[in-house]
Amino acid sequence: MDIISYIKKVPKAELHLHIEGTFEPELMFEIAQRNQVKIPYNSVEEVKKAYQFNCLQDFLDIYYAGASVLLYEQDFYDLTMAYFKHCAEENVVHTEIMFDPQTHTKRGVSFETVISGIKRAQDDAAKNFGITSYLIMSYLRHLSEEDAFETLEQSLPYKHLIKAVGLDSSEKGNPPSKFQKVFAASVKEGYKIVAHAGEEGPAEYVWEALDLLKIDRIDHGNNSLTDEKLVNYLVENKMALTVCPLSNTALRVVDDLKQHPIKKMLDLGIKATVNSDDPAYFGGYITKNYTEIIEALSLSLEEVKTLVSNSFEYSFLDEETKKKYLQMVHEN
Ligand code: HPA
Ligand code: ZN
Repeated sequence: MDIISYIKKVPKAELHLHIEGTFEPELMFEIAQRNQVKIPYNSVEEVKKAYQFNCLQDFLDIYYAGASVLLYEQDFYDLTMAYFKHCAEENVVHTEIMFDPQTHTKRGVSFETVISGIKRAQDDAAKNFGITSYLIMSYLRHLSEEDAFETLEQSLPYKHLIKAVGLDSSEKGNPPSKFQKVFAASVKEGYKIVAHAGEEGPAEYVWEALDLLKIDRIDHGNNSLTDEKLVNYLVENKMALTVCPLSNTALRVVDDLKQHPIKKMLDLGIKATVNSDDPAYFGGYITKNYTEIIEALSLSLEEVKTLVSNSFEYSFLDEETKKKYLQMVHEN
């Protein structure tokens, strides 16, 4: 079987996906209309045209503006269910979904509204498509640590629905050390820990995420490659990176997919995975991330199997379920 057919067919897990980043312009228009919220665009084409970014902040400004039409439980259900339909079409059998409560609670939408809509979609996706999913509650790093503590507090009644906490939004100038206390408190509550680090920020931020936040997995982590000691640490400790190829080119973290570091990461022995990050904004869901990177870097079937295996191995699934999926990766 050729590699492209393999990647389309094989069961996959996605480990780096922001649910607010799956908001397609068509659905954004529909929800804006029914909620009677004004958006600064006249057509779907106009929205798509606005998706030209020079850096992370360019994207974040548009991403937060888009999310502002989400008001009711049904909106969060529709958003999440639309993503699950993509998963079903692309054989994503397990996904670990990030959501940004503060993007919504800051606008007066309750934590309960957000998580109830997402949870109902998770239950329906499990029932109708057999897709399992976990939630990762992400703190917005451009806000204060006190704000993050408030979010942690709000999450506690829903603790059973949340697997991990994460850290996202504007990286530069907002190092992991700013959130050391709230992550320690989150660990105490039983949450697993991930954090965006080394996307635009330096390798030093990755060290901080490891040493101070005690992370289980790194989101992006590209700039780790500038620090040999850090690379050795990641390899020795099997610390996985959730890499997002199309996000990297869209936000100019990488100039061209042909220069993407994921092959180098694999060569070095780093546990890299492929993910879509914010697919509605960056031009593709998980399969497109795989196919484009396979073509740009001429990845071998062996390398692709390693990437897919890593997506299960470094998920938060239990060992038995991991084993079941890993077998399928190699049988396919
Ligand atoms: N980086 C930081 N924050 C984000 C991202 C990202 O890629 N996507 C959504 N929030
Ligand atoms: Zn991200």
